[in-house]
Amino acid sequence: MESTVTVRVPGTTANCGPGFDTIGIACTIYNDLTVTFGGKPGFTLAVSGEGAGAIPANDRNIAYQAVKAVFGKVGRPLPGIRISMRNSIPLARGLGSSAAAIVAGLVAANAATGGTLDNRDLLALATEIEGHPDNVAPAILGGITVSFTAGGGPQSLRFDPPGELKLIVAVPEFGLSTKAARQVLPKTVPHADAVFNVSRAALLVGALCRGELDYLRHALEDRLHQPYRAKLIPGMADVLAAAVANGALGAAISGAGPCLIAFARRQAAGPIGGAMVRAFEHNGVKAAYLDLDIDSAGAKVIEAP
Ligand code: HSE
Repeated sequence: MESTVTVRVPGTTANCGPGFDTIGIACTIYNDLTVTFGGKPGFTLAVSGEGAGAIPANDRNIAYQAVKAVFGKVGRPLPGIRISMRNSIPLARGLGSSAAAIVAGLVAANAATGGTLDNRDLLALATEIEGHPDNVAPAILGGITVSFTAGGGPQSLRFDPPGELKLIVAVPEFGLSTKAARQVLPKTVPHADAVFNVSRAALLVGALCRGELDYLRHALEDRLHQPYRAKLIPGMADVLAAAVANGALGAAISGAGPCLIAFARRQAAGPIGGAMVRAFEHNGVKAAYLDLDIDSAGAKVIEAP
C-alpha cells in the first residue's frame, strides 16, 4: 500500500556575520517535497524549479538519505521511495537548500512512521547529515536559532525576531559549494579575532532579542570566515557597503555564500536590493535579489494520509 506526505520547508540564512556554524534564521522562501512511501522498491526523483537536472537521483541524494535515516532510527524496513521536489530556494548559494532537502526528508519520513521522533531527534539526525546545525535548526524550528553541541548532540535555542526586520538577499548567478567555502578557512585564528567575534555574536543575539536594531551595524561584523571567503565572492566588500549606504542596518555573507544578505527596517528596505545588484554588476557579476521576511513556522507537514 502506498502513502504520500508533503512537507514545506523554509530556506535559511546561517552565520549572520559573527555566528559561524551557530546562528541561523528561517526565511520566507520555501521548497515543497512530496514523498510517496511503498510501491516499487528503490528510489525515484522528480525535481521542478531550482536544481532541476542538477540534483542526484541516487544514494547521494540527501533527502533520500534523510528518509533512510528515519526508517533506520525507528527500526522500520525501508519501503520504495518516490520523491518529488518543487524548489524555490536557489541551489549552492548560501540559502540552506541542502538543509531544506534534509529536513524535508526527515519530517516526511517521521510523519509516515507515526511521528515518534521529536524536534531534538530530528535536529540530531539533520546535523549528522549536514555536518553543522546552523541551517537545519531554523529549517526545523523557524525563527532565529542559536545552536550548540553539548552532551554529544546538537541543541538549539529558538526565539522570534523583531517584527520590523526585513532580509534582502543579493543572489549572484554563480554557485559556491559549502565544501569549497570551508576549505579556504584557517585551522586556527588569532585570539584577538576570536574575542572580536564573541563580542559581535553576543551583541547580535542581544540586539535581535531586544529589538535594538541600530546595534546590527557592528553586530553583523565577522573575522572568523568572511575575510577568508572574500576572494571567492567578487565584489563582496562593495556589495556589503552598497547595502549599508542605501539604508541597511548591516550586511553579511549568507551562510557560506555566495549570496550576500542585508538586514533592514521594513520602511527602509526599498532601495537596498537594487543597490546590491548594481554593486555586483560593477564587479562583473550578474545578480538578482530576493526581498524576504523571517519565517516563524519552520518545517510543516502540509499533506499527510
Ligand atoms: N556555517 C556554515 C558555513 C554554513 O559557513 O560553512 C554553510 O551552510
